Amino acid sequence: MPKRPSAWRSTGLSAHIVGWGMAVPSGVMTNDDLAALVETSDEWIRDRTGIRERRIANESESTATLAHKAALAALEVANMLASELDLIIVATSTPEHVFPSTASLVQDWLGATRAGAFDLSAACSGFVYALDVATQAIRSGSAQNVLVIGAETMSRVLDWQDRGTCILFGDGAGAVVLSAGEDEGGVLSSVLRSDGAGCDVLLIPTHNVRDAQGHRINRMYMAGSEVFKFATRVVDESIRQAVEEAGLTLDDVSLIVPHQANQRIIASVAKKLRLDESRFMSNVDKYGNTSAASIPIALCEAIEQGRVKEGDHLVMVGFGGGLAWAALVLRWGIPARLKQAPTLVKQRRVLEYTLARWRARLVRWQRGLRQLWRRFSPGRLWRQWRARQRSDKNR
Ligand code: UT7
Repeated sequence: MPKRPSAWRSTGLSAHIVGWGMAVPSGVMTNDDLAALVETSDEWIRDRTGIRERRIANESESTATLAHKAALAALEVANMLASELDLIIVATSTPEHVFPSTASLVQDWLGATRAGAFDLSAACSGFVYALDVATQAIRSGSAQNVLVIGAETMSRVLDWQDRGTCILFGDGAGAVVLSAGEDEGGVLSSVLRSDGAGCDVLLIPTHNVRDAQGHRINRMYMAGSEVFKFATRVVDESIRQAVEEAGLTLDDVSLIVPHQANQRIIASVAKKLRLDESRFMSNVDKYGNTSAASIPIALCEAIEQGRVKEGDHLVMVGFGGGLAWAALVLRWGIPARLKQAPTLVKQRRVLEYTLARWRARLVRWQRGLRQLWRRFSPGRLWRQWRARQRSDKNR
């Protein structure tokens, strides 16, 4: 049996991935499209990053709509109702607003009436951080079902004149449902790290940030080669630590799902770990770097390709702005209690989504009516009339 970190030994519950889904915009931007915007070439981008194309959101798509779509797919795989969720976490660097959280929007659209919701900011490591937080909630018994989403619209914060960054990123979302089980397995260990001394090498500023000339900056900034060096320095070590904490060796790991930033980073980590590159999931060629969404999107495609089987040990590893990084080990398997799918869940899910849409509309109508009532209530009109009479008398 794999060794468990001591903090997790006391509870009997494990956190298992029981549903998964992804959503990417249909709009494709190729390297040649980029070469029409900045001085670059398909050959340079492919050689230096492995990226061939990326998806770009259209006007009607946003971080929240992509997150919502991925969530619907994950709940369908989990055969679960949104009302069974206890918590929704959206890992993102491109939220819809500073507040309310993107997670709250998703909660409303799903009709997840019993769920708490918040966004988590840990840049490209956000999804692994969020999985860890969800796992702790499940292990402590405070949540049974948690929806974890990584979602981004990086295209909205890129400087489309900076060839060092705009060629790398893309938009998309991936989601998983984590559920409590008494069976062994699920998330076995995780390692979360941060080095804030590197906060200035990769950032997306808010409205408060100005450059040396006093101009507001609201576009992404990245010192690419610094981030590259950081990634190739920390990723292999964090994988080793997480695997050791799970009581496993690298030989036990069947698939590593890394943050999709650059194929050269994946190759370098594989070399350092003395593993064949084929043990790493990669789809950076199709989607580029989708930040917090890249790991769940890669996981979904790995499952679709039949690369994940019951009993397999997987590692997920993220790295990026913060600087922050995180690795997590899990044993794949659906808990026995969820294997017998109850009937009619699909129909109930659809009913809940319809009710959620109507509920949101009703709440807004009600608010609108309240405001109208406040403006035109007989009491208020009467007070206004009296005040006018008094002021006419005094004139
Ligand atoms: O998700 C968060 C984590 N982010 C990452 O992991 C990104 C990590 N960094 C990288 O992937 C790489 O640093 C980049 C792909 C961003 C850049 O590759 P690089 O091999 O580190 O290039 P560089 O920045 O050292 O630049 C080398 C040359 C420079 O020209 P000179 O000064 O040598 O004449 C750049 O101006 O390549 C030039 N260059 C480009 N040329 C054509 C930089 N970007 C481009 C470009 N097309 N798009």
